[in-house]
Amino acid sequence: MKKISLLGTAVAAVFSVLGGNAEALEESSAAKPSEKILVAYYSYSGNTEEVAEAIHEQVGGDIFEIKAAGTYPEEYQAMTQQAKEEIQNGFRPELTTSVADMSQYDIVFLGSPNWWGTITPQVSSFLAKYDLRGKTVIPFITHGGGGEQNTVADIKAQCADCRVIENAWAGYGNRTSGLADWLKGLGF
Ligand SMILES: Cc1cc2nc3c(=O)[nH]c(=O)nc-3n(C[C@H](O)[C@H](O)[C@H](O)COP(=O)(O)O)c2cc1C
Repeated sequence: MKKISLLGTAVAAVFSVLGGNAEALEESSAAKPSEKILVAYYSYSGNTEEVAEAIHEQVGGDIFEIKAAGTYPEEYQAMTQQAKEEIQNGFRPELTTSVADMSQYDIVFLGSPNWWGTITPQVSSFLAKYDLRGKTVIPFITHGGGGEQNTVADIKAQCADCRVIENAWAGYGNRTSGLADWLKGLGF
């Protein structure tokens, strides 16, 4: 690991001497071969789970479902209303699943549905609970037509000192076409 990062620094230094944009070079690749990966996600109705499984299948590492205490009404309108109030109130539900040893991971893929333009309270609880400082966080978002909206910016805001990759996946529903190219573009 040390060797690889030293090599990375050397490459960046040479690149910079040659007049290139070393930061852009580093930003273009999220993955290094020796790094340990966690794919963490919250999914209410299954779309984000499907995308998480597809990512996990392609990048390996461990997969983790974020689950939390509390329930939502079955009726859709009431469910979305409760979710809206939770988001407006900054509600952070207690998590009922836990990652055994977060310190072992270098890269955390973090999946959330878009709820009212942002990440879900359960994903916010995850960000509040775990120390992701120094890790690369790669958001993947599923939505119902609104796209990424504030989701990635809010992950960034709630994850101090992590390296959040802004080139996030933002796919409609459970769409996975294009996922392999997106991962390839990130260096996986
Ligand atoms: C409470 C709630 C709020 C939502 N708000 C948005 C939204 O603001 N923009 C959007 O594009 N989709 C919105 N959606 C649709 C979901 O983002 C979309 O269906 C997502 O793929 C669901 O993921 P899941 O099946 O993993 O729970 C919302 C869905 C719910 C349940």
